[in-house]
Amino acid sequence: MKKINIAFDGPSAAGKSTIADLVAEKLGYTHLDTGAMYRAVAYEALQKGIALDDEENVVRMIEGMDLEMKADGSVVLNKEDISEKIRTNEISLAASDVSKLEKVRAALVAMQQKISRGGGYILDGRDIGTVVLKDAEVKIYLTASVESRALRRHKQNLEKGIESDLESIRRDIEKRDYQDTHREHSPLKKAEDAVEIDSSDLSIEEVVDAVMALVEKELN
Ligand code: C5P
Repeated sequence: MKKINIAFDGPSAAGKSTIADLVAEKLGYTHLDTGAMYRAVAYEALQKGIALDDEENVVRMIEGMDLEMKADGSVVLNKEDISEKIRTNEISLAASDVSKLEKVRAALVAMQQKISRGGGYILDGRDIGTVVLKDAEVKIYLTASVESRALRRHKQNLEKGIESDLESIRRDIEKRDYQDTHREHSPLKKAEDAVEIDSSDLSIEEVVDAVMALVEKELN
């Protein structure tokens, strides 16, 4: 059966990663979480004390990074598994900061295109349908209200035993939404040919089914 690529975009905490994992599993595809790549860059810049707006030094730093995006979703930087460390609020906002830099985007986009060249990938991010995989056979734009996204993230944190404050999560989501949709380079926006799914009142299974229906239509 032919292997296509799926572009999966949308704002923070809309559930893209969870849905993409499940869709990838059903199809035997690989999920590439491109946000985790921006997070890894932000993490390394903070570790090295490089300012998040210092474009030249952040790009130079990326050239020296040994970043492995494993098929099981783990993120390994210079042989260290940083998958958990990059999930903090501090790194979320820092990732949004470094993602404004044009040359940082160019470096990561090139990596993402190389990884997914052969098809059989679902990439989740902000610019997949508009930049990274302009020719993706299936493009989805997943949205949800700020309230439902904040509440979901809050519950997730509590389940994981992470201290959580709903109001500050909500503020962070709004801040990232603003930054991601207003930045100069590749701002978050729905590709013209993407199908929009609003997950505010849908269960995870319902969203997965909706995505699978679009994929199956393309494959048949
Ligand atoms: O998806 P996630 O929340 O992990 O992404 C972290 C940040 O990385 C986002 O807020 C966004 O600023 C940036 N990002 C991006 N382009 C992508 C993926 C993520 O600019 N393709």
